[in-house]
Amino acid sequence: MSTVLAGNGLIKKYGTTNALAGVDVQVAERESLAIMGPSGSGKSTLLHTLAGIIRPDRGQVLLRGERSEMEIPPAEGWGRVDHWGENRLSALRRKRFGFVFQFGQLLPELPAEENVALPLMLEGVPRRQAVQRARRWFAPLGLAGLEHRRPGQLSGGQAQRVAIARALAVEPDVVFADEPTGALDQSTGEEVIRLLTSVTRDQGAALVMVTHDAEVAAHCDRVLQVRDGRVSGYSQYTVA
Ligand SMILES: Nc1ncnc2c1ncn2[C@@H]1O[C@H](COP(=O)(O)OP(=O)(O)O)[C@@H](O)[C@H]1O
Ligand SMILES: [Mg+2]
Repeated sequence: MSTVLAGNGLIKKYGTTNALAGVDVQVAERESLAIMGPSGSGKSTLLHTLAGIIRPDRGQVLLRGERSEMEIPPAEGWGRVDHWGENRLSALRRKRFGFVFQFGQLLPELPAEENVALPLMLEGVPRRQAVQRARRWFAPLGLAGLEHRRPGQLSGGQAQRVAIARALAVEPDVVFADEPTGALDQSTGEEVIRLLTSVTRDQGAALVMVTHDAEVAAHCDRVLQVRDGRVSGYSQYTVA
């Protein structure tokens, strides 16, 4: 098992709150890792720190396959994401990461296929080509025939599957999802998670997913438990 992303000794404080109180976590290539814990335990802060959205007060975030700008890099072939400036970080997030949030991530005026194509267009792929590449995600996610629908004409589960397609469009190394089924009923959520984990794995990307739902977490290869900003346990599931 080979690590693609690691957080070492992550500390993040908000005033007197220790959102992260010294977290170590490693994400292996192609694995799905669920982050579980009670509300306020630091799950979202951890996800956003690993994704280069929040800069930790202390500790390192290391991503394989990046050049380090440090004089003494942590190791050849690893980049210290937590040292990067905002421009480099946002380029990284666009190219190597995909994001799925709870809701409200699709642009209502654009048809589904253009929503999925958007990250490619931001990377400079011409519109027609981007839309063509975007379409390949519709069938695997059970969305065939819905390419021209606008978000308002999709069900909650369909919209969330379009958001997954959009996260995968750039063929990222890591997909980050924060409570991706939080706004869905149980059976719709179950279907969305099944597709999120399987299509992400088929694409060859790792998945880091925050959830407070044990049934959702059980779809992942590994579960990291957090409590009061610390790792309180790991569990391993054998995925059916
Ligand atoms: N931007 C912020 N400003 C102040 N406090 C924050 C901020 N973000 C998170 N916190 C606090 O940090 C702790 C962890 O938050 P969070 O990571 O969102 O937890 P979770 O996702 O597990 O519910 C909570 O006590 C929360 O109130
Ligand atoms: Mg949260």
